[in-house]
Amino acid sequence: MSSSQSENKTGNPAAGSASAGNDLQENLRRLDRLANLGLVSASIAHEIKNGLVAVNTYVQVLLEKGDDAEMAEVVRRELKRIDALATQMLRLSSPKSAVLATVRVHHVLDHSLRLLEHQMSGRLIALKRDYRAIPDTVRGDESQLQQAFMNLVLNGIEAIGSNGELTVRTENSPGADGKPVLQIFFQDTGPGIAAENLARLFEPFFTTKKNGTGLGLAISQRVAEDHQGKITVASEVGRGSTFIVSLAACPE
Ligand SMILES: Nc1ncnc2c1ncn2[C@@H]1O[C@H](COP(=O)(O)OP(=O)(O)O)[C@@H](O)[C@H]1O
Ligand SMILES: [Mg+2]
Repeated sequence: MSSSQSENKTGNPAAGSASAGNDLQENLRRLDRLANLGLVSASIAHEIKNGLVAVNTYVQVLLEKGDDAEMAEVVRRELKRIDALATQMLRLSSPKSAVLATVRVHHVLDHSLRLLEHQMSGRLIALKRDYRAIPDTVRGDESQLQQAFMNLVLNGIEAIGSNGELTVRTENSPGADGKPVLQIFFQDTGPGIAAENLARLFEPFFTTKKNGTGLGLAISQRVAEDHQGKITVASEVGRGSTFIVSLAACPE
C-alpha cells in the first residue's frame, strides 16, 4: 500500500476541512478503491483481451508480409505474454458471479453497514434501518451486491461529511410489468446534487471529488443491471439525495 498524502478535499463543502477528518477520509477512499478494484481489473483485463484479438489478427498479416523473422518472433511472444497476463488478471479478479445464489438482501445490507459503521459514528452520522421488504430475497451475486451497496453508502457518508443522517430502507413493489421488485433506498442528508450533474452521475470517471475515481456509481449501475435491475436517483440541492436500487425480487 502506498502511503501517499491525502488532500482530503471532496469538492463537497459539507465535508468541511476539520483536520480530524483526514484519516477517516483516507480510510474511506481506500475502502472505496478496494471495493471497486476487483470489478475494475476484471473490466480492464476483459478490454485488453478484446483489443488483443484484433491486434493479433492484423499483426499476423503484417508479419507474414514482412521478412524480419526475428522481429516477428518477438512480437508474437510479447503478445502471447500480454494475453496470458490478462487471462490471469481476469481469473484472479473476476467476481464469482457464475455461481448465482438466493441472496438475502437485508443480510448483505447489514454486512455492508457493519463495515462502515465505524466511519459513520466517527463522523456523527446517524444510521437508520427501515427494512420492510418481505421476502428480502433476490437471485444474484452476494459480493457484487455488497460492492454496490457499499458504494452507495460511502457516497452518502462522503456527501454528508459529518453530522447527518443516513437511512437505508427496503420495500417490495410491483414493477412496471407486474413482476415483483425489491427496492433499496439509500437516503442521505447531504447537500444534494446539482441539476447539471444529475444526468452525468453514472458516467464512468465522472466525479466532483478531488480524489474521486468516478467509478462507484458506474460499477454499481452495472451490478444492478446484471441483476435485471437499475439504480435511479432523486435529489434536490439543499435537501439531500436518495439513490434507489431496484432489483428483480425472487421468492425463496
Ligand atoms: N449521495 C450523494 N450525494 C451527492 N452527490 C453524490 C452522491 N453520490 C454520488 N454523488 C456524485 O456523483 C459523483 C460520482 O460518484 P461515484 O461514481 O461514486 O464516484 P466518486 O465517489 O469517486 O466521485 C460524485 O463525485 C458526486 O458528485
Ligand atoms: Mg463513490
